[in-house]
Amino acid sequence: MIEFKNVSKRYGASDKDPLAVDRISFVVPTGTLTTLLGPSGCGKTTTLRMIAGLESPANGEIWMADKNGQVENVTTRAAHERNVSLVFQSYALFPHMDVLANVGYGLKMIGVKKLEARDRAIEALKNVGLVGFDDRLPSELSGGQQQRVALARALVLEPAVLLFDEPLSNLDAQLRRAMREEIRNLQQRLKLTVAYVTHDLVEALAVSDHIVVMDKGSIAQQGTPQEVFEQPKNDYVKNFLGEAALLRDDIDRFLKWQR
Ligand SMILES: Nc1ncnc2c1ncn2[C@@H]1O[C@H](COP(=O)(O)OP(=O)(O)OP(=O)(O)O)[C@@H](O)[C@H]1O
Ligand SMILES: [Mg+2]
Repeated sequence: MIEFKNVSKRYGASDKDPLAVDRISFVVPTGTLTTLLGPSGCGKTTTLRMIAGLESPANGEIWMADKNGQVENVTTRAAHERNVSLVFQSYALFPHMDVLANVGYGLKMIGVKKLEARDRAIEALKNVGLVGFDDRLPSELSGGQQQRVALARALVLEPAVLLFDEPLSNLDAQLRRAMREEIRNLQQRLKLTVAYVTHDLVEALAVSDHIVVMDKGSIAQQGTPQEVFEQPKNDYVKNFLGEAALLRDDIDRFLKWQR
């Protein structure tokens, strides 16, 4: 699990610099998926980067469970000392390496033997439904296939926590729908602990156990998708839902399907 306790973050050294994240507290229970949802600039990526250890908080504490379920204060721990993998919006695959080499790369870096790395890479690719593409270069794959490779590359390391930053925003609408279902299925099947960032309400509905709605660095509301969407707590959340009114049909259908 991941727990944020009153975490703040400012870029810049002066107390006058604005807070990008302002005293946020939330929990991502083990084996569940929590989405950080909100408009551009509200602090989603900053929050994710603090989970990864790529940014350090100005105040507050970050706690995380390790592989054995031991919960520890990781606030000051470096990125490489945290058991976390990040999947970005741009897949950042190595263009000159084939699919198998891309997925196995991280294992090679941590000293896993060649044959074992190969087996684990093949298994990870199977998990994301990408079989028979081992020898292809990224440039020979579709956007969705590249995103699957990126996902396999993160999975292969068997991280305690998997982080997604707008992983589907480079894909067309149809593929986005398919991939979000796949990510959700994979998360449930492998009981992954995931923090997922999006500004897309329907995407958040489709993948989340919990949603944290962010507003200018603070948390406007958090809860299950149903709680957030059926009982918006304040005008900000109402307006955010209102702006997605055109998607209301999707939401209604989803809520019905959940019940
Ligand atoms: N490296 C940086 N230096 C200074 N300010 C930054 C830096 N990165 C982000 N910020 C600021 O922190 C705030 C939060 O940014 P963040 O990237 O977390 O937003 P976001 O919710 O991920 O937005 P988006 O949906 O556009 O990706 C913004 O006001 C942004 O300008
Ligand atoms: Mg961002």
